[in-house]
Amino acid sequence: MATTTKPLLSDLVAGMCRVPPNYIRPTSDRPNLHEVESLDGAIPLIDLQGLNGPNRFNIVKEIGLACKSYGFFQVKNHGVSEAVIDNMLRVSREFFHLPESERLKNYCDDPMKTTRLSTSFNVNTENVASWRDYLRLHCHPLEDYMQEWPLNPPSFREDVAEYCKNARGIALRLLEAISESLGLGKEYIDRALGKHGQHMAINYYPPCPQPDLTFGLPGHTDPNVITILLQDEIPGLQVLKDGKWVAVNPIPYTFIVNIGDQIQVLSNDHYKSVLHRAVVNCEQERISIPTFYCPSPDAMIGPAPQLIDVDHPPNYKTFAYSEYYQKFWDRGLTTQTCLDAFKDSRP
Ligand code: OGA
Ligand code: NI
Repeated sequence: MATTTKPLLSDLVAGMCRVPPNYIRPTSDRPNLHEVESLDGAIPLIDLQGLNGPNRFNIVKEIGLACKSYGFFQVKNHGVSEAVIDNMLRVSREFFHLPESERLKNYCDDPMKTTRLSTSFNVNTENVASWRDYLRLHCHPLEDYMQEWPLNPPSFREDVAEYCKNARGIALRLLEAISESLGLGKEYIDRALGKHGQHMAINYYPPCPQPDLTFGLPGHTDPNVITILLQDEIPGLQVLKDGKWVAVNPIPYTFIVNIGDQIQVLSNDHYKSVLHRAVVNCEQERISIPTFYCPSPDAMIGPAPQLIDVDHPPNYKTFAYSEYYQKFWDRGLTTQTCLDAFKDSRP
């Protein structure tokens, strides 16, 4: 009997009433959805309105505190218009609703390719699949990558480029604030990132018949500097807080920001890159759009010298970001972060 293999999950799931075996997690590694807390307000919501005014000192302090105790925060009054956000979500939904043959024009399994549609996390290395399709785009500098992006839906390039410029604006403002909150100059992190990089994923999580058996994305930390996440109105993101998974329910027109591994390194562990995951549900598809702000591949990353002294030796070696990034994709998503491989082991 000829079996038709569908590369994308979206095309595989129609009418399916059981999760295929390769998506089922071992019993010790399942979402345990009934144990998850859903505390609104568990993750701080920071108002960025006055960030460039007389109240800057207090807002920077608030950001620093959130980075230290949560590794996650939400932001409002961030300056990105509702129209830009609506267009980004709309065009993403339209993309994933295109006919299979149209979407597959962008399909590629190689994690180093700068524009590609794929599924799960890394189909070349993983043992268990995740309940997700995703379109991944490099987006800084825009003019280097835009011509690789999908041409369908027709407004895709324009809507996404507009969103990318806005997301970059927030990332840069937050990096200045984070730099200041660490007692480094406002420009320190900016300069540490070399020519800078910006990637984006458009995550598409189809409804799942047995959401207790699988993950949209299993627990992981992000390998980049900071992540600015836009999610639609369907819950799914969970963050590890004091050993418990906490749901971060969507607040329309806000962004969720999290510290990535490179801030943990630059800050010499003052700020921690926190584990998070995405779960799925049986009713509704979900779209989430993380912007991964990152160093350029050649940037050398290590703990800031100002944060090192006799009592605080460097906890990490200095490495090229490309080395870290490669490791992240090779190793697959596990709750043990890649950071362990870059520890400074001098006595
Ligand atoms: C990610 C991620 C969370 C989500 O793509 O790295 O953590 O809610 N996504 O989709
Ligand atoms: Ni993530």
